[in-house]
Amino acid sequence: MEKSKFLDLTAKYANETEPFAELINLKGQVAVVTGGAGTLGYLISRRLLEAGASVVLTDINEERGAYAEESLISLCGKNVIFKKGDITKTEDMDAVMNFAVEKYGRLDICVHSAAYWSYYPTLGISDEEWNYTIDTVLTGTMIACRSAAKVMKELGNGGKIVPILSDASINCEPPLGVLDHYAAAKAGARGFARSFAREVKQYGINVNMMLAGAMNTIGARFLNVKGMENPETRAKMAHTNMPMSNTPDDMARVVFMLCTKISDFMYGADVIVDGGAHINLGKE
Ligand SMILES: NC(=O)c1ccc[n+]([C@@H]2O[C@H](COP(=O)([O-])OP(=O)(O)OC[C@H]3O[C@@H](n4cnc5c(N)ncnc54)[C@H](O)[C@@H]3O)[C@@H](O)[C@H]2O)c1
Repeated sequence: MEKSKFLDLTAKYANETEPFAELINLKGQVAVVTGGAGTLGYLISRRLLEAGASVVLTDINEERGAYAEESLISLCGKNVIFKKGDITKTEDMDAVMNFAVEKYGRLDICVHSAAYWSYYPTLGISDEEWNYTIDTVLTGTMIACRSAAKVMKELGNGGKIVPILSDASINCEPPLGVLDHYAAAKAGARGFARSFAREVKQYGINVNMMLAGAMNTIGARFLNVKGMENPETRAKMAHTNMPMSNTPDDMARVVFMLCTKISDFMYGADVIVDGGAHINLGKE
Protein backbone atom coordinates (compact mmCIF):
# COMPACT_ATOMS: atom_id res chain seq x y z
CA MET A 1 0.00 0.00 0.00
CA GLU A 2 1.17 3.51 -0.82
CA LYS A 3 2.03 5.61 2.20
CA SER A 4 -0.40 8.38 1.09
CA LYS A 5 -3.33 5.92 1.16
CA PHE A 6 -2.42 4.82 4.63
CA LEU A 7 -2.10 8.40 5.84
CA ASP A 8 -5.39 9.44 4.17
CA LEU A 9 -7.48 6.72 5.76
CA THR A 10 -5.68 6.46 9.06
CA ALA A 11 -3.36 9.17 10.33
CA LYS A 12 -5.57 11.92 8.82
CA TYR A 13 -8.32 11.08 11.29
CA ALA A 14 -6.02 11.83 14.19
CA ASN A 15 -5.52 15.39 12.91
CA GLU A 16 -9.25 15.92 12.43
CA THR A 17 -10.30 14.96 15.95
CA GLU A 18 -10.11 16.89 19.20
CA PRO A 19 -7.51 16.06 21.82
CA PHE A 20 -8.75 13.69 24.50
CA ALA A 21 -8.68 16.36 27.22
CA GLU A 22 -11.14 18.44 25.16
CA LEU A 23 -13.51 15.51 24.67
CA ILE A 24 -13.97 15.15 28.40
CA ASN A 25 -13.98 18.85 29.22
CA LEU A 26 -17.47 19.89 30.38
CA LYS A 27 -16.61 23.49 31.22
CA GLY A 28 -19.63 25.71 30.53
CA GLN A 29 -22.02 22.74 30.36
CA VAL A 30 -24.98 22.25 32.67
CA ALA A 31 -26.29 18.94 34.01
CA VAL A 32 -29.33 17.78 35.94
CA VAL A 33 -28.91 14.56 37.95
CA THR A 34 -32.06 12.90 39.30
CA GLY A 35 -31.57 10.76 42.38
CA GLY A 36 -28.71 13.15 43.15
CA ALA A 37 -29.17 12.56 46.88
CA GLY A 38 -28.53 8.83 46.41
CA THR A 39 -25.11 7.19 46.17
CA LEU A 40 -24.75 6.74 42.42
CA GLY A 41 -26.34 10.11 41.57
CA TYR A 42 -23.95 11.81 43.98
CA LEU A 43 -20.91 10.05 42.51
CA ILE A 44 -21.93 10.88 38.94
CA SER A 45 -22.43 14.52 39.96
CA ARG A 46 -18.95 14.55 41.44
CA ARG A 47 -17.43 13.38 38.14
CA LEU A 48 -19.44 15.96 36.12
CA LEU A 49 -18.34 18.74 38.50
CA GLU A 50 -14.70 17.62 38.29
CA ALA A 51 -14.91 18.00 34.49
CA GLY A 52 -16.17 21.59 34.85
CA ALA A 53 -19.97 21.23 34.50
CA SER A 54 -22.48 22.99 36.73
CA VAL A 55 -24.90 20.52 38.31
CA VAL A 56 -28.46 20.67 39.59
CA LEU A 57 -29.07 17.73 41.90
CA THR A 58 -32.68 16.71 42.23
CA ASP A 59 -34.30 14.14 44.48
CA ILE A 60 -37.50 13.59 46.43
CA ASN A 61 -35.54 13.61 49.69
CA GLU A 62 -34.65 17.14 50.78
CA GLU A 63 -32.63 16.20 53.84
CA ARG A 64 -30.15 14.05 51.90
CA GLY A 65 -30.27 16.57 49.05
CA ALA A 66 -28.89 19.19 51.42
CA TYR A 67 -26.15 16.78 52.62
CA ALA A 68 -25.21 16.02 49.01
CA GLU A 69 -25.10 19.70 48.01
CA GLU A 70 -22.95 20.66 51.00
CA SER A 71 -20.60 17.73 50.56
CA LEU A 72 -20.15 18.32 46.80
CA ILE A 73 -19.50 22.04 47.35
CA SER A 74 -16.71 21.21 49.77
CA LEU A 75 -15.31 18.57 47.39
CA CYS A 76 -15.69 20.26 44.00
CA GLY A 77 -16.57 23.97 44.45
CA LYS A 78 -19.72 25.99 44.20
CA ASN A 79 -21.31 25.06 40.89
CA VAL A 80 -23.83 22.66 42.38
CA ILE A 81 -27.26 23.19 43.83
CA PHE A 82 -30.07 20.96 45.07
CA LYS A 83 -33.69 21.38 43.98
CA LYS A 84 -36.38 19.05 45.26
CA GLY A 85 -38.33 17.13 42.62
CA ASP A 86 -40.45 14.01 42.31
CA ILE A 87 -39.74 12.08 39.10
CA THR A 88 -43.34 10.86 38.93
CA LYS A 89 -44.61 14.44 38.55
CA THR A 90 -44.29 16.18 35.19
CA GLU A 91 -44.64 19.63 36.79
CA ASP A 92 -41.72 18.88 39.15
CA MET A 93 -39.40 17.63 36.40
CA ASP A 94 -40.32 20.55 34.10
CA ALA A 95 -39.59 22.92 37.00
CA VAL A 96 -36.21 21.28 37.72
CA MET A 97 -35.06 21.48 34.06
CA ASN A 98 -36.22 25.11 33.80
CA PHE A 99 -34.50 25.89 37.09
CA ALA A 100 -31.20 24.61 35.64
CA VAL A 101 -31.59 27.02 32.71
CA GLU A 102 -32.55 29.95 34.97
CA LYS A 103 -29.67 29.28 37.36
CA TYR A 104 -26.85 28.34 34.95
CA GLY A 105 -28.12 29.41 31.51
CA ARG A 106 -28.20 26.04 29.68
CA LEU A 107 -29.10 22.38 29.87
CA ASP A 108 -26.71 19.94 28.20
CA ILE A 109 -26.85 16.74 30.24
CA CYS A 110 -29.51 14.83 32.15
CA VAL A 111 -28.58 11.72 34.10
CA HIS A 112 -31.63 9.95 35.45
CA SER A 113 -30.55 7.88 38.45
CA ALA A 114 -33.59 8.13 40.75
CA ALA A 115 -35.41 4.86 41.34
CA TYR A 116 -37.10 2.66 43.89
CA TRP A 117 -37.17 -1.09 44.46
CA SER A 118 -38.34 -3.71 46.95
CA TYR A 119 -38.08 -7.49 47.36
CA TYR A 120 -41.30 -9.47 46.87
CA PRO A 121 -42.19 -12.60 44.90
CA THR A 122 -44.91 -11.90 42.35
CA LEU A 123 -47.15 -14.38 44.18
CA GLY A 124 -46.83 -12.20 47.28
CA ILE A 125 -46.77 -8.63 45.93
CA SER A 126 -49.66 -6.21 46.43
CA ASP A 127 -51.09 -4.31 43.46
CA GLU A 128 -50.12 -1.14 45.29
CA GLU A 129 -46.44 -2.16 45.47
CA TRP A 130 -46.45 -3.22 41.81
CA ASN A 131 -48.02 0.07 40.72
CA TYR A 132 -45.68 2.19 42.84
CA THR A 133 -42.66 0.46 41.28
CA ILE A 134 -43.99 0.96 37.75
CA ASP A 135 -44.83 4.61 38.51
CA THR A 136 -41.38 5.48 39.81
CA VAL A 137 -39.11 3.27 37.71
CA LEU A 138 -40.91 3.17 34.35
CA THR A 139 -43.13 6.26 34.22
CA GLY A 140 -40.59 8.28 36.22
CA THR A 141 -37.92 7.52 33.59
CA MET A 142 -40.20 8.73 30.80
CA ILE A 143 -41.14 11.91 32.71
CA ALA A 144 -37.55 12.88 33.62
CA CYS A 145 -36.23 12.17 30.10
CA ARG A 146 -39.16 13.98 28.44
CA SER A 147 -38.77 17.10 30.59
CA ALA A 148 -35.03 17.23 29.83
CA ALA A 149 -35.47 16.67 26.10
CA LYS A 150 -38.21 19.34 25.83
CA VAL A 151 -35.82 21.95 27.21
CA MET A 152 -32.85 20.70 25.17
CA LYS A 153 -34.93 20.84 22.00
CA GLU A 154 -36.04 24.39 22.79
CA LEU A 155 -32.48 25.56 23.49
CA GLY A 156 -31.23 23.93 20.27
CA ASN A 157 -27.80 22.86 21.54
CA GLY A 158 -28.43 19.11 21.57
CA GLY A 159 -27.53 17.17 24.69
CA LYS A 160 -26.89 13.88 26.41
CA ILE A 161 -29.54 11.93 28.31
CA VAL A 162 -28.44 8.90 30.32
CA PRO A 163 -31.11 6.82 32.06
CA ILE A 164 -29.64 4.49 34.68
CA LEU A 165 -31.17 1.08 34.21
CA SER A 166 -30.26 -2.25 35.71
CA ASP A 167 -28.98 -5.57 34.45
CA ALA A 168 -32.38 -6.72 35.79
CA SER A 169 -33.78 -5.20 32.58
CA ILE A 170 -32.04 -7.86 30.49
CA ASN A 171 -31.34 -10.67 32.99
CA CYS A 172 -33.40 -12.05 35.82
CA GLU A 173 -31.51 -10.49 38.65
CA PRO A 174 -30.70 -12.72 41.59
CA PRO A 175 -32.02 -13.26 44.25
CA LEU A 176 -34.33 -15.20 41.99
CA GLY A 177 -37.98 -14.35 42.03
CA VAL A 178 -38.20 -11.33 44.31
CA LEU A 179 -37.49 -8.52 41.85
CA ASP A 180 -39.94 -9.33 39.03
CA HIS A 181 -41.72 -5.98 39.44
CA TYR A 182 -38.43 -4.04 39.35
CA ALA A 183 -37.15 -6.13 36.39
CA ALA A 184 -40.40 -5.44 34.51
CA ALA A 185 -40.22 -1.70 35.22
CA LYS A 186 -36.54 -1.40 34.23
CA ALA A 187 -37.13 -3.51 31.09
CA GLY A 188 -40.00 -1.14 30.21
CA ALA A 189 -37.73 1.83 30.84
CA ARG A 190 -35.13 0.28 28.54
CA GLY A 191 -37.72 -0.21 25.79
CA PHE A 192 -38.82 3.39 26.22
CA ALA A 193 -35.25 4.76 26.19
CA ARG A 194 -34.22 2.83 23.06
CA SER A 195 -37.24 4.13 21.20
CA PHE A 196 -36.93 7.66 22.59
CA ALA A 197 -33.29 7.71 21.43
CA ARG A 198 -34.61 7.45 17.84
CA GLU A 199 -37.16 10.21 18.39
CA VAL A 200 -34.76 12.83 19.77
CA LYS A 201 -31.68 12.13 17.64
CA GLN A 202 -33.00 14.78 15.20
CA TYR A 203 -32.48 17.41 17.94
CA GLY A 204 -28.84 16.43 18.45
CA ILE A 205 -29.67 14.54 21.62
CA ASN A 206 -27.90 11.25 22.42
CA VAL A 207 -29.84 8.89 24.69
CA ASN A 208 -27.74 6.00 25.99
CA MET A 209 -28.39 3.71 28.92
CA MET A 210 -26.11 2.43 31.65
CA LEU A 211 -27.25 -0.96 32.94
CA ALA A 212 -25.85 -1.31 36.44
CA GLY A 213 -25.15 -4.45 38.37
CA ALA A 214 -25.27 -4.71 42.16
CA MET A 215 -23.71 -1.81 44.06
CA ASN A 216 -23.25 -1.17 47.72
CA THR A 217 -25.24 2.08 48.05
CA ILE A 218 -27.49 3.75 50.61
CA GLY A 219 -30.37 2.64 48.41
CA ALA A 220 -29.35 -1.02 48.58
CA ARG A 221 -28.42 -0.88 52.29
CA PHE A 222 -31.07 1.38 53.84
CA LEU A 223 -33.69 2.94 51.52
CA ASN A 224 -35.03 0.14 49.35
CA VAL A 225 -35.26 -2.81 51.72
CA LYS A 226 -39.01 -3.47 51.84
CA GLY A 227 -39.63 -7.23 51.73
CA MET A 228 -36.21 -8.05 53.16
CA GLU A 229 -37.81 -8.82 56.53
CA ASN A 230 -38.83 -12.16 54.98
CA PRO A 231 -36.23 -14.77 56.15
CA GLU A 232 -36.41 -16.67 52.84
CA THR A 233 -35.58 -13.52 50.90
CA ARG A 234 -32.75 -12.70 53.29
CA ALA A 235 -31.34 -16.22 52.83
CA LYS A 236 -31.49 -15.89 49.02
CA MET A 237 -29.69 -12.55 49.23
CA ALA A 238 -27.02 -13.96 51.51
CA HIS A 239 -26.30 -16.81 49.09
CA THR A 240 -26.40 -14.90 45.82
CA ASN A 241 -23.21 -15.11 43.80
CA MET A 242 -23.71 -11.70 42.12
CA PRO A 243 -20.60 -9.56 41.67
CA MET A 244 -20.97 -6.49 43.91
CA SER A 245 -19.36 -3.09 43.33
CA ASN A 246 -18.13 -1.71 46.63
CA THR A 247 -16.97 1.43 44.86
CA PRO A 248 -19.96 2.54 42.72
CA ASP A 249 -17.64 5.02 41.01
CA ASP A 250 -17.13 1.88 38.85
CA MET A 251 -20.48 2.83 37.33
CA ALA A 252 -20.19 6.62 37.71
CA ARG A 253 -17.12 6.98 35.50
CA VAL A 254 -18.78 5.05 32.67
CA VAL A 255 -21.88 7.25 32.95
CA PHE A 256 -19.53 10.23 32.83
CA MET A 257 -18.17 8.96 29.51
CA LEU A 258 -21.75 8.80 28.16
CA CYS A 259 -22.19 12.48 29.15
CA THR A 260 -19.18 13.64 27.13
CA LYS A 261 -18.28 13.99 23.46
CA ILE A 262 -16.80 10.50 23.69
CA SER A 263 -20.33 9.18 23.14
CA ASP A 264 -21.20 11.47 20.19
CA PHE A 265 -21.73 8.50 17.83
CA MET A 266 -23.75 6.40 20.31
CA TYR A 267 -27.55 6.21 20.24
CA GLY A 268 -29.80 3.92 22.25
CA ALA A 269 -26.86 1.83 23.44
CA ASP A 270 -26.92 -0.50 26.42
CA VAL A 271 -23.72 -0.04 28.36
CA ILE A 272 -23.53 -2.83 30.94
CA VAL A 273 -21.44 -2.26 34.05
CA ASP A 274 -22.12 -5.24 36.28
CA GLY A 275 -18.79 -6.87 37.10
CA GLY A 276 -19.54 -9.50 34.45
CA ALA A 277 -22.84 -10.75 35.94
CA HIS A 278 -24.40 -10.93 32.45
CA ILE A 279 -21.75 -13.44 31.39
CA ASN A 280 -22.31 -15.40 34.59
CA LEU A 281 -19.19 -14.20 36.36
CA GLY A 282 -19.74 -14.47 40.08
CA LYS A 283 -18.15 -12.90 43.12
CA GLU A 284 -14.37 -13.07 43.21
N1 LIG B 1 -27.79 -0.38 44.07
C1 LIG B 1 -27.87 -1.37 43.21
O1 LIG B 1 -27.48 -2.53 43.52
C2 LIG B 1 -28.39 -1.14 41.82
C3 LIG B 1 -28.32 -2.18 40.88
C4 LIG B 1 -28.77 -1.97 39.59
C5 LIG B 1 -29.30 -0.73 39.23
N2 LIG B 1 -29.38 0.26 40.16
C6 LIG B 1 -29.95 1.53 39.72
O2 LIG B 1 -28.99 2.56 39.90
C7 LIG B 1 -29.65 3.80 40.21
C8 LIG B 1 -29.06 4.39 41.49
O3 LIG B 1 -29.20 3.45 42.52
P1 LIG B 1 -28.61 3.70 43.98
O4 LIG B 1 -28.30 2.34 44.51
O5 LIG B 1 -27.59 4.80 43.96
O6 LIG B 1 -29.93 4.18 44.68
P2 LIG B 1 -30.18 5.23 45.86
O7 LIG B 1 -31.41 4.76 46.55
O8 LIG B 1 -28.94 5.43 46.66
O9 LIG B 1 -30.52 6.53 45.03
C9 LIG B 1 -31.75 6.67 44.39
C10 LIG B 1 -32.36 8.01 44.79
O10 LIG B 1 -33.61 8.12 44.13
C11 LIG B 1 -34.46 8.90 44.98
N3 LIG B 1 -35.85 8.72 44.62
C12 LIG B 1 -36.65 7.65 44.86
N4 LIG B 1 -37.90 7.89 44.41
C13 LIG B 1 -37.88 9.15 43.87
C14 LIG B 1 -38.87 9.97 43.26
N5 LIG B 1 -40.13 9.55 43.11
N6 LIG B 1 -38.50 11.19 42.82
C15 LIG B 1 -37.23 11.63 42.97
N7 LIG B 1 -36.25 10.90 43.56
C16 LIG B 1 -36.58 9.67 44.00
C17 LIG B 1 -34.13 8.40 46.38
O11 LIG B 1 -34.50 9.35 47.37
C18 LIG B 1 -32.62 8.17 46.30
O12 LIG B 1 -31.91 9.28 46.80
C19 LIG B 1 -31.14 3.46 40.29
O13 LIG B 1 -31.75 3.78 39.07
C20 LIG B 1 -31.15 1.96 40.53
O14 LIG B 1 -32.34 1.35 40.08
C21 LIG B 1 -28.95 0.09 41.44
